[in-house]
Amino acid sequence: MTKRTHTCGELRREHTGTTATLNGWVHGRRDLGGMIFIDLRDRYGVTQVVFEPHHAPEACAAAKELRPEFVVSVTGVVRKRPAGSENPRLSTGDIEILADRFEILNRSEVPPFEIRDDVDANEDLRLKYRYLDLRRPVLMRNLLLRHKVYQVIHRYFDGLGFVEIETPVLMKSTPEGARDYLVPSRVHPGKFYALPQSPQTYKQLLMVAGFDRYVQVVKCFRDEDLRADRQPEFTQIDLEMAFVTREDVFAVVEGLVERLLAGILGVSVTLPFERMHYDAALERYGTDKPDTRFGMELHTLTDIMRGTAFTIFAAAVEAGGIVTGMNVRGGAGLSRKQLDALNDRAKALGLGGLVWVKVEDGGLHSPAAKFLEEGRLNAAARELDAAAGDLLLLAASPERRKALTALGTLRLELGRERGLIDTSAHRLLWVVDFPLFQYDEESGRWVAEHHPFTGLYPSDVPMLDKDPGAVRADCYDLVWNGNEIGSGSIRIHDAELQRKVFRVLGLSEEEIRGKFGFLIEAFRYGAPPHGGIALGLDRIVAILAGTPSIRDVIAFPKTNSALSLMDGAPSEVSAEQLRELHIAIGP
Ligand code: AMO
Repeated sequence: MTKRTHTCGELRREHTGTTATLNGWVHGRRDLGGMIFIDLRDRYGVTQVVFEPHHAPEACAAAKELRPEFVVSVTGVVRKRPAGSENPRLSTGDIEILADRFEILNRSEVPPFEIRDDVDANEDLRLKYRYLDLRRPVLMRNLLLRHKVYQVIHRYFDGLGFVEIETPVLMKSTPEGARDYLVPSRVHPGKFYALPQSPQTYKQLLMVAGFDRYVQVVKCFRDEDLRADRQPEFTQIDLEMAFVTREDVFAVVEGLVERLLAGILGVSVTLPFERMHYDAALERYGTDKPDTRFGMELHTLTDIMRGTAFTIFAAAVEAGGIVTGMNVRGGAGLSRKQLDALNDRAKALGLGGLVWVKVEDGGLHSPAAKFLEEGRLNAAARELDAAAGDLLLLAASPERRKALTALGTLRLELGRERGLIDTSAHRLLWVVDFPLFQYDEESGRWVAEHHPFTGLYPSDVPMLDKDPGAVRADCYDLVWNGNEIGSGSIRIHDAELQRKVFRVLGLSEEEIRGKFGFLIEAFRYGAPPHGGIALGLDRIVAILAGTPSIRDVIAFPKTNSALSLMDGAPSEVSAEQLRELHIAIGP
């Protein structure tokens, strides 16, 4: 093999006249009047190679054999492209190589899809041949960007005195709200390790050990319903710090995001990031991860609608629920059909329906106006800052959260449809002060809103017994353009308080001992106050790469049903393996 002297992204006008050898893949071949043009590709770029019959007749004849994805070594002289045939879209677009000779290093079958960014093959086929899909420049760029992100992370945390420590992958289950992936033990029949949903307990134990500032870029595993921003195995930037308040954690994370944005996209952000109370986020945006790149905020209209003759609203208020609304600017032109579609969507989101109000020069027009008093309608319009041409959407539910999240979802969908989102903007904010617990109607129990190690406001401790739903957690989520990209808290470091929280969560003394005895015991040996956060690395890279799916920034992702189409995982194992693991597969 003739080894390369340059990469396919390297040659420029100043190399004109030098002899160069390139190694790479045939990206495309064109035959033009006896001349053959090859685009040669590697991870650095594409270079045009020309075979001319009068210059190198043998090589030119042999080059007819070249097909896409053949691997070749080509040697020739770099020359300027003829005036007018430069390609400004290629970094090497000013030059070409006039081939003297080439070697075929390996042949390729016809690939199942073309290796190009605008490929139209479906995703399953591309996942089956992921190694070919990864040849596409766009995916290659994404993984190179991911590599850069790792470098920024390691440099940044090292500079701040963080210690990188690996935690076990075979561990005891840590609750993060999903199901565990379990690994059976061969030597301990009937016993299982869990793959970490996160290294939460270990990083807290590292604080007890005195490491003070821990960081790890770490794989986590969760058996949960998958979608564009969720994979069964994903990567966290996990950190923990001793002797800190949440402001210290914020400062560290804000500094990292600032560096990533500046270093990778050349974008500067204003620090500190906005902080938004959980209740305010829910009330103004109908979600705990608000996309603040556009307005169209929700406004609570409960007081205005209290006692209205419009019974749906009155009943919702009476039952302790909410009436909320938003103003779709310039939306009065929506057709009846479009409004019906919005209503159907609201129903699909769990609401009884939507009330729409068109704001026109002559006044307010709404199908609900028969029942909804004019004074109340006018007050709602004032609250929503309505002007002629606007469309107001009002929703009510006896369940506050249901009305808010439904309208919040509509807000996002309308924002996207109407092109209100500035996709070049980067809006980051902290959502703080979540409730510590949510009541789960199905199981009739309190469950942790984040995880059971989350600290609480000291002044709220007495409410743990009386009113768990009112206890505020000292926790925080980082939201980037409407994506939850991180979550953390100041932790409980007191053994007694930790047991108390476990008890509110319905764990018996025996369960507490069995599941978390090791942690509670550790807290008895001088656990420092501590807190931290985990950031979703895949989500961060996806935002930086400008792609909606984290599958596009993971080398070998799984499908939405957790399959690896390339190697066929998960798969059956031999009867012998199962026997050794003391496992019998049921019918
Ligand atoms: P949490 O469960 O919120 O917190 O996870 C932290 C961040 O990880 C990302 N993330 C995911 N990314 C891709 N696929 C998934 N399935 C997935 N699940 C979560 C999100 C999320 O914000 N131990 C705590 C952190 C702490 O308290 O320090 C934890 O794991 O971006």
